[in-house]
Amino acid sequence: MTTPDADTSLNQPQQPVLVPLRYTPVEPQECLARARRAYEQLEQRRSVRHFSDRPVPREVIEYLIRTATTAPSGAHKQPWTFVAVSDPALKTEIRQAAEAEERKNYEQRLTPEWLDALQPLGVDWHKPFLEIAPWLVVVFKQTVELLGSGERRKNYYVSESVGIAVGLFLAAMHQAGLVALTYTPSPMKFLSEILKRPPNDKPVMIIPVGYPAGDCRVPDLQRKRLEEVAVFLEG
Ligand SMILES: Cc1cc2nc3c(=O)[nH]c(=O)nc-3n(C[C@H](O)[C@H](O)[C@H](O)COP(=O)(O)O)c2cc1C
Repeated sequence: MTTPDADTSLNQPQQPVLVPLRYTPVEPQECLARARRAYEQLEQRRSVRHFSDRPVPREVIEYLIRTATTAPSGAHKQPWTFVAVSDPALKTEIRQAAEAEERKNYEQRLTPEWLDALQPLGVDWHKPFLEIAPWLVVVFKQTVELLGSGERRKNYYVSESVGIAVGLFLAAMHQAGLVALTYTPSPMKFLSEILKRPPNDKPVMIIPVGYPAGDCRVPDLQRKRLEEVAVFLEG
């Protein structure tokens, strides 16, 4: 008779399946040219709060979400859901709920220091872009995974992973010739209710996506210089 321990295959961790990397070599000069081009393109991205109502085809949004989900994620848990809303009734509901919270923020909850930090952006509790932009992409994070068995399994580095995914979404959106805003109403629990998300999907932000209004203006902001944000320790 064999004891369970005698069958060693039962106790061996599964071997990971490794496949060749898809990689196209790039010469150093071309590498530099591409790095510069990527910077010059993405440096032009701005947060936009004045949208046109010009439609954007669903297929475009599908590719942006596909790009977002190429992001690395802690233990490859892919702890995200992207809910893309173009339904006018849902957008109105989201706007009304967001403005109700924002109004309380601006009139009661924000500290003078916070209001001071927002001053250069010229923002207030009115959020018309939530109805005007053709798409609202609402990002959710999953701090736990719900297995079919009903078991809950913890995800790792969830905020970092979702942040990277949103970064890739924004880069792809910009490359596609669109504009967007990373909008974080607070609190934003209303998004789970309106969009009927399961309890392990926690809302992170709303990304209105579309074309800029003809008279779109943006705050005159400066970005920190490389010397202020980077430290090189070279050998
Ligand atoms: C995590 C996060 C949350 C933000 N939340 C808001 C927001 O709630 N409302 C808003 O108008 N802008 C919001 N922004 C946009 C910032 O104000 C904006 O990125 C910043 O002013 C720099 O401008 P730029 O994106 O044009 O470079 C947010 C940005 C990030 C990254």
